[in-house]
Amino acid sequence: MDFLLNEEQLILQDSVRQFVNERVKPIASTIDAEHKIPDELIRQMADMGFLGSYLPEKYQGAGLDILSYVIIIEEISKACASTGVLISGHTSLACDPIYRFGTDRQKEKWLPHLATGRKIGCFLLTEPDAGSDAANLSTTYKRDGEYFIINGSKNFITNGAFLGTGIVFASSDRNLRHKGISAFIVDLESPGVVILKNESKMGIRGSYTTAFALDEVRVPVENLLGEEHQGFKISMETLNGGRIGIAAQALGIGEGAFERSLQYAKERKQFGKPIGDLQAIQFKLADMHTRLEQSKMLTYRAAWAKDHLPNYAMESAMCKVSASEAATFVTKEALQIHGGYGFITDYEVERMFRDAKITEIYEGTSEIQRIVISKMLLQSK
Ligand code: CAA
Repeated sequence: MDFLLNEEQLILQDSVRQFVNERVKPIASTIDAEHKIPDELIRQMADMGFLGSYLPEKYQGAGLDILSYVIIIEEISKACASTGVLISGHTSLACDPIYRFGTDRQKEKWLPHLATGRKIGCFLLTEPDAGSDAANLSTTYKRDGEYFIINGSKNFITNGAFLGTGIVFASSDRNLRHKGISAFIVDLESPGVVILKNESKMGIRGSYTTAFALDEVRVPVENLLGEEHQGFKISMETLNGGRIGIAAQALGIGEGAFERSLQYAKERKQFGKPIGDLQAIQFKLADMHTRLEQSKMLTYRAAWAKDHLPNYAMESAMCKVSASEAATFVTKEALQIHGGYGFITDYEVERMFRDAKITEIYEGTSEIQRIVISKMLLQSK
């Protein structure tokens, strides 16, 4: 068992840190305030290979491993969680299912555009009445000659407003529940795809969260992803990978808040000495660091598992629940260590506290992760 990053991963980590310090950190509070990630930053990240990190070079990806992908999201999320989830949603939820379930033609057609950032990807599973109960889709499809026609609505779609490439889930017969669902690759500039609104949110404000109406959207039959009625399986397998990306985002948010708290504990003086000399603060720092290290182990192990094991649903659910709950714990403690300064927007921990919460909710709530873990425990022989 080796707990060290290899040489390539260390070099990558260094270069991402440098990129983050130069390009992301200086604008993170503006991204939050203006609810927008600049196109220029997205282009720079594409040039760095961050948008197709683990896709093979033949699809213009960077050919890295999953742990490297985790390192990219973790380092970026230390400075800006909105930018972290742009990469995670795009890679895990759009590039990944096309790469894993697509035909050679589909991969050749769609992946280079995604890997180079000409298109930003998203995952259209959730609906107003199908959140945790993902099989309860009311979006339907029917065949019409060489097309499928999709009708329905989708909400809470990360990256939706880019109108790039979407993986859309729809049912041919709602009575079949998960057995009636199919997945389609959809160009979101197609007629009938209508943005209803972009949500105003508590955190990750630079990330778009979009509600759509799908009105008679015509999708060529060649855009069916996997077999017909294999869609629910594709969505679950995709989320098994996606949850590792969200764990990395949560880890980064927590680590960012911890780094700032440690520094602040050394600098801030009260009662004639740095507050880091007070045991009340020391114990907080010890607990924060321990929770983050636990989560890092689980997240890095899940990344390894995705590269090496056929089934990593449990590893992925465990790292997601651990890292997201660590992030909300750590950012709450970070705010407390900063006292009144933590509550004002001049200090970044205020934003990090707001950004952390969603990691316990999207790509499966903590309660859903516990269902996945306990089901697997009870099913195993
Ligand atoms: N991995 C692989 N397969 C899985 C799976 C997993 N994690 N979970 C379930 N399955 C399979 C089951 O094995 C079963 O397969 P068979 O038909 O071959 O037996 C099938 O899926 C149905 O399973 P269940 O009977 O357990 O299904 P269910 O309806 O009871 O629901 C659930 C299971 C785990 C609760 C699932 O609905 C779920 O994960 N819900 C959460 C959905 C979620 O994470 N949504 C987030 C949306 S995306 C997002 O947030 C980001 C964004 O950008 C929009």
